[in-house]
Amino acid sequence: MAPVDPHSFTDSTDPFATHVSLTFYLDFFTSAIHGSALIFLPAPHSGSITLDSRSISIHSVLDPVYFSPLPFTLSDSIDPILGQSLSITLSSHSSFLVLFSTSPSSSALQWLTPPQTSSGNHPFVYTQCQSIHARSVFPCQDTPAARIRYSARLNLPSPLSAVMSAARLTCRGPAPSDLPAPHPLCPSSAWCADGRVVEEFSMEQPIPPYLFALAAGEIGSRDVGPRTKVYAEGGMEVLDAAAREFAGTEEMIKVGEGLFGPYEWERFDLLVLPPSFPYGGMENPRMVFLTPTVIKGDATGAQVVAHELAHSWTGNLITNKTNEHFWLNEGFTTYAERRIVEVVQGEDVAALNIGIGWRGLNEEMERFKDNMEFTKLKTKQDGIDPDDVYSQVPYEKGFQFLWRIERQIGRPAFDVFLKKYIARFKFQSIDTETFLEFLKENVPGIENQIDLKLWTEGTGIPPDAFEPVSTIYTKIVSLANEFKQGRMPRDDEVADWNGQEWELYLENLPKPSEASQLAALDARYRLAESKDWEVKVAFLQLAISSGCITYFDEVEKALKQVGRMKYLRPLYTALVKGSGEGEKMLAKRIFTEASESYHPIARSVVDSILAKHT
Ligand code: BES
Ligand code: ZN
Repeated sequence: MAPVDPHSFTDSTDPFATHVSLTFYLDFFTSAIHGSALIFLPAPHSGSITLDSRSISIHSVLDPVYFSPLPFTLSDSIDPILGQSLSITLSSHSSFLVLFSTSPSSSALQWLTPPQTSSGNHPFVYTQCQSIHARSVFPCQDTPAARIRYSARLNLPSPLSAVMSAARLTCRGPAPSDLPAPHPLCPSSAWCADGRVVEEFSMEQPIPPYLFALAAGEIGSRDVGPRTKVYAEGGMEVLDAAAREFAGTEEMIKVGEGLFGPYEWERFDLLVLPPSFPYGGMENPRMVFLTPTVIKGDATGAQVVAHELAHSWTGNLITNKTNEHFWLNEGFTTYAERRIVEVVQGEDVAALNIGIGWRGLNEEMERFKDNMEFTKLKTKQDGIDPDDVYSQVPYEKGFQFLWRIERQIGRPAFDVFLKKYIARFKFQSIDTETFLEFLKENVPGIENQIDLKLWTEGTGIPPDAFEPVSTIYTKIVSLANEFKQGRMPRDDEVADWNGQEWELYLENLPKPSEASQLAALDARYRLAESKDWEVKVAFLQLAISSGCITYFDEVEKALKQVGRMKYLRPLYTALVKGSGEGEKMLAKRIFTEASESYHPIARSVVDSILAKHT
């Protein structure tokens, strides 16, 4: 008896489920899903099996053939990170049925009322399951060590439609036989009520539970390529802008296939979510979820798409076994993303991205200076909530490690290695040791050239990490240094700057800077009002840290407009770390007024920032 993952109640003696068949009744009135999960095991099992659950009520567990109740216990105590364990006693069962309902506080789910959506006419709901929120949607072995196929029947009110990280099979009227057993909160009269429709989905490739995803609302779509459609709520305008922004997607898929091997997921569709979506993007297979802030009208959203696309190989095909090896997902994907960007947007853009990442990595060292564990690639996460320690480290230190190996053995050899690695471990969940073994096997002697232990287990940035060199990168960093001496960049120097150049420039300015100098910079280049959120937030963060109170209105507007944590985190942190009580009170007031519109994950992350500093 031993846990397989510090973030799951799954026991090493339990068999992993291979398939789950779900029925979900989406109840927009009570913000709940009434559901059933028919869970299949690889072979008949007797004795106990333990699942993860959080914020869901378990009505019953049944034998799927005789509908006789099976004994189960839901742990009395609720672990603040893991939730509750659901232990079921089986007697030679190879499948069992769980009837359950989610609650309005289920952390994966955000339910939006019609006024909270762009069109304002219909409600909307969506999930965000990474890293450990799938258990708040349905009971499951919520560890990425598990891989599972799923099928789903979603019952929703017309004219809403749904998307999932799965193939959409049909949309039809409901039938009483859809329900495997009577559900106490969803009788067949409700399931079959007028105006309800059933959509069926199937995910035939085995995926870790954090890649389970659904969204439902008044969703439209538009073709952008032979295997890509963009979906969005909010009408033709959003769809048109998104289709323009993502026009280059097919080219990127082809580049990815050239570098990493066949694209295994058939479709690569994109869903643009409402502004409260807490991430830039989420790599849900077949249906990537994206923040609307990536639609800027200048094709830079392609970088986020390149990243989520790259996960199709590194993350979705090869998955970290537990969150302690998260760098295997994000470090590889950051490397792969930049290889794709280099081909489609050029070396300069790739170098800028590396430079922005390098700055970010150095800032994280400061953030974790009292908690150096989280400056490691491989981390210990017992008792740790992954959302609290989310950082650039697995992305950028992971990228640096792979880039270091690439420099050592040369790009052609590294490319051969990467393809081989993906082919060898696809559809498996692996840990850091497995990667290192494979590396040493395939690149003999590498351990004598690179300190692999220092890179994967050591704290801080290893001495052989590398700041990128490129003309544009060096120029921007030196212009930022000149700002410290009081020199503003000239119009001709910034004439061809896009968002990324500005972002890099701002992130290299000292915090704090001289308030009057910042105001003058903004008066000249209009940064606080930039449509590019990276630029806007980089400027506002600097403005708060420099005590420029004239920008507080703009900060408040920004915090109420979007729920992407990449923007919430630095802005709230800058406010609560500010010198004055005024800033702290402002942060609290804005949060009280805005938190209702945030996704539960963002709400809880901001809550802990405020709790830590006020
Ligand atoms: N998988 C992540 C998002 C994530 C990580 C969600 C951990 C929950 C827990 C996704 O691929 C990602 O890294 N998104 C980035 C995109 C960026 C690096 C281009 C983001 O959201 O900023
Ligand atoms: Zn990622």
